Amino acid sequence: MTASATYPSLRDKRVFITGGGSGIGAALTAAFTRQRANVHFVDIAEPASHMLVDSLRREAVDHRVSFTSCDIRDVEALRAAIQDIEAKHGAIDVLVNNAASDERHNWRDVTPEFWDERMALNLRPQFFAIQAVAPGMIAAGGGSIINFGSISWKIALGEMPAYVAAKAAIHGLTRTMARDLGTSNIRVNTVIPGAVMTERQLDKWISPDDERQIQTNQCLKQRLLPVHVVPTVLFLAADDSAQCTAQEYVVDGGWC
Ligand SMILES: NC(=O)c1ccc[n+]([C@@H]2O[C@H](COP(=O)([O-])OP(=O)(O)OC[C@H]3O[C@@H](n4cnc5c(N)ncnc54)[C@H](O)[C@@H]3O)[C@@H](O)[C@H]2O)c1
Repeated sequence: MTASATYPSLRDKRVFITGGGSGIGAALTAAFTRQRANVHFVDIAEPASHMLVDSLRREAVDHRVSFTSCDIRDVEALRAAIQDIEAKHGAIDVLVNNAASDERHNWRDVTPEFWDERMALNLRPQFFAIQAVAPGMIAAGGGSIINFGSISWKIALGEMPAYVAAKAAIHGLTRTMARDLGTSNIRVNTVIPGAVMTERQLDKWISPDDERQIQTNQCLKQRLLPVHVVPTVLFLAADDSAQCTAQEYVVDGGWC
């Protein structure tokens, strides 16, 4: 499946994606670039991110895509990356808060330090990226922010309480920021993927038996892939969704 819709309103838009170097984020980086947007992403996966930029630039010389190495747990580094992009290219129009980590952990082993570290990756950067891009969006007269949630809390998934709690909190963050920023014509929405079969998921967690179980749970009996999540994000970034805000959009093959 490839993205079939082209959104004229995304052309030349400045898009900032966290974790845009691999997994669903890489599919988003490629898709926004192919929409002729001006795409900037941060990630810690340096070789994968450089390879992605090189391959997109090879695909078309006018593709405008850049990568900055940045660990988003470091709020100052995240702010600096956003300021640098805005100084060079202008205010960000679309923010995609995609990066996260769903490392499994047993509730018995969670320490306060581990809990704080998971929040520093899976929740805190989403807010501070919003705080950093909002002034530019306000000055520009609007913008679109897409936060990545997860079906994990809706389906009562176990074995990673700090991740699941952070992902549930993102729904509250989306709704409160949609209220605060709506007066400036900035839309804030959550996209909620189901069990998306990225290479990492297949390598680390999902066995053939797990995948059979996932498809038993889904109404649709096909493998959910990053390309299935991308069209919803493009739509929410584009002017076509001009009156959609404070909502959550589930792409899970009909599980939760
Ligand atoms: N894949 C799924 O099944 C699934 C299900 C539900 C929700 N989601 C959500 O979708 C989003 C993308 O998921 P994914 O499966 O592609 O994740 P992933 O782990 O494959 O990729 C996330 C990206 O973020 C980057 N990253 C990780 N830690 C970082 C850090 N400290 N600083 C900067 N970048 C960092 C990674 O290098 C990677 O490129 C996440 O928010 C995830 O919670 C995914």
